[in-house]
Amino acid sequence: MQHILDELARRRAQAKLGGGERRIAVQHAKGKLTARERIDLLLDEGSFEEFDMFVEHRAHEFGMADQKVPGDGVVTGWGTISGRAVYVFSKDFTVFGGSLSGAHAAKIVKVQRMAAKVGAPVIGLFDAGGARIQEGVDSLAGYADIFMENVLSSGVIPQISVIMGPCAGGDVYSPAMTDFIFMVKDTSYMFVTGPDVVKTVTNETVTQEDLGGARVHAQKSGVADGAFENDLEALVQVRRLVDFLPSSNREAPPRRDSFDTPDRDEPSLDTLVPANPNKPYDMKELILKIVDEADFFEISSEYAKNIITGFARIDGETVGVVANQPQVLAGVLDIDASRKAARFVRFCDAFSIPILTLVDVPGFMPGTKQEYGGLIKHGAKLLFAYAEATVPKVTLITRKAYGGAYDVMSSKHLRGDINYAWPTAEIAVMGAKGAVEIIFRADAKDPEALAQREAEYKSQFLNPFVAASRGYIDDVIMPHGSRRRIARALKSLKTKQLSNPWKKHDNIPL
Ligand code: HXC
Repeated sequence: MQHILDELARRRAQAKLGGGERRIAVQHAKGKLTARERIDLLLDEGSFEEFDMFVEHRAHEFGMADQKVPGDGVVTGWGTISGRAVYVFSKDFTVFGGSLSGAHAAKIVKVQRMAAKVGAPVIGLFDAGGARIQEGVDSLAGYADIFMENVLSSGVIPQISVIMGPCAGGDVYSPAMTDFIFMVKDTSYMFVTGPDVVKTVTNETVTQEDLGGARVHAQKSGVADGAFENDLEALVQVRRLVDFLPSSNREAPPRRDSFDTPDRDEPSLDTLVPANPNKPYDMKELILKIVDEADFFEISSEYAKNIITGFARIDGETVGVVANQPQVLAGVLDIDASRKAARFVRFCDAFSIPILTLVDVPGFMPGTKQEYGGLIKHGAKLLFAYAEATVPKVTLITRKAYGGAYDVMSSKHLRGDINYAWPTAEIAVMGAKGAVEIIFRADAKDPEALAQREAEYKSQFLNPFVAASRGYIDDVIMPHGSRRRIARALKSLKTKQLSNPWKKHDNIPL
């Protein structure tokens, strides 16, 4: 009997070595952890249960029959984060460069299906060279099987991808279909085709880092939702994110009580908005001051900084925060900001996370660059996302809410449930100067008359009371009491029921 137990122990030890000690040392020398070390850091201690440790590939060509490594380049299974189940797969770069064979793909599909069945998030850790070249079409088929599960699970369970090494070819499209992508600075990169192919096809010379490094995707392309310093930080932050999220669309997000009382006043907010309407202020200060314990998990913090998106808690319950940032481009809505916020709003709606919208927006960005880029369609994404969202929606206008952007930013007209404004709010078609120059063009050469018209416009329109008199704003509130009012509003909406008309699916302006 003992020799049978010893054989199991031997096989397990062999599987755990992956591609062997030499390749593990190379992995460490690059500043990267191994697939198993990553899983150990991601999950609660001792909670990992591995599946398919003994799976091997079935290829024969190119001498592959003699090169079998148990596990075949991906470690899969489930464990817990803060006690809640999550399913994981972690690519093992030490085995054929983490490349994807048919057997490797089947292991991933197995955890994807299990996660969907039981209603738990899937977290994929990527560090891989794409399709296993020796497997040909079996590898391509395997990718498509994974993509299919990504799509079926979208909106059902949270799907998170962490890019911790190379990620090219087939490996980029699965992350692209998940809810969040995080990257590790300096050691990870993502591209559809690498620098060599780029050179051949377009004659462009570019490094891996400049083509698809963490900074490129977190700041320029918006493909990544965050970039972290190293493997450890990335994994710790993913744990933090998971704590905000429900396990599936069948559950509410977890509650986390804190010592931060919901009726806490914040007197400093009474002076947050500067007297001069053209002076910026930091919207993040408002977010940090109204959420529980200033704990805010920002999504895409380095991309389209004119809008802020992220998760926080108010009175222990998760909220998705969307806020214009007057400090960047005056908080204007442009293509990138609209896309970023629309995707976030849709995630919140799919997973029953109430949305808190903080508004200070001068309108949509004018110009040929934006119009040629399709601002109309991209701006419409945000409008569409807010309009179709049925989760509780609480809105607070702190200062500007001009033009179409007023409508878009979770206004009453798009089924905003509770819409507040501070006394400093300016709800109008546009700012005073622009408005007066258009409607009093005849006075253009008379600065005194123009100034008088401007003052008149300001006193009549640049306040929250016209909107409040129509019922478009439910109440004009004191800034210092914002946390209390928002907490009460969210509490009152906990039993909200609203559904959209039956349809196969909508046709959001993609
Ligand atoms: C089989 C692979 C492999 C692959 C790497 N390896 N990529 N084996 N198939 N795709 C193996 C290497 O042979 C090597 O084995 C080990 O992994 C480490 O690779 P190195 O090249 O030594 O490592 P490094 O210098 O760090 O470079 C990593 C890399 C490079 C940039 C990822 O390996 C590379 O460019 N690989 C090919 C990437 C690629 O073109 N993939 C196909 C994409 S097309 P040993 O035994 O020496 O350790 C695709 C289509 C799918 O994915 C589309 C679906 C929609």
